[in-house]
Amino acid sequence: MDLKSLIRDIPDFPKPGILFRDVTTLLSDPEGLRYTIDFLAQKCSEIEIQVDYIIGMESRGFIFGAPVAYKLGAGFVPVRKKGKLPAAVHAIEYQLEYGTDTLEVHQDALQPGSKVLIVDDLIATGGTASATAKLVQKIDCELVGFGFIIELRDLQGRKNLPDVPIISLVEY
Ligand code: PRP
Ligand code: HPA
Repeated sequence: MDLKSLIRDIPDFPKPGILFRDVTTLLSDPEGLRYTIDFLAQKCSEIEIQVDYIIGMESRGFIFGAPVAYKLGAGFVPVRKKGKLPAAVHAIEYQLEYGTDTLEVHQDALQPGSKVLIVDDLIATGGTASATAKLVQKIDCELVGFGFIIELRDLQGRKNLPDVPIISLVEY
């Protein structure tokens, strides 16, 4: 299936000069959605047959991460932006284009020593995925790979990630 034909390009969002790859049109297409989840789950299972947890980042990482976890028989753990999780958290500050932001995960969300795969809709600079990988380290879990729907190749985000398999279904 041609996933690119289901991903909409929006010029000048959120700022002039940025061509935004919009997955809402892929999500609303029944066959596109099913194909994307099945394909991503298949590729993730080729990295590691028994993943214990999928970690997905707020907010689009939740949409893709939870069904992949369901298909792989893994748990799903949300990584959220600052101040949203109710119990004790590990936190990590990461770089945005302008300034910084903080991602958090519950301290007791994962069993130490578990195998973890990080899923998000898109990798651009890799800042979000790299910060999430650092959270996995803080929890003493084994990061086995990353799965993305979209990779923006020019931004070279994968250079900022640890040396584990990185899957992307569509490249621009
Ligand atoms: C987007 C996207 C990734 C991240 C990629 O999320 O969903 O999580 O940016 O960019 P990076 O590789 O340069 O870090 P955003 O922070 O916009 O949050 P959202 O999913 O809630 O819109
Ligand atoms: N689309 C969606 N999310 C993004 C993009 C994009 O082009 N760049 C950074 N985050």
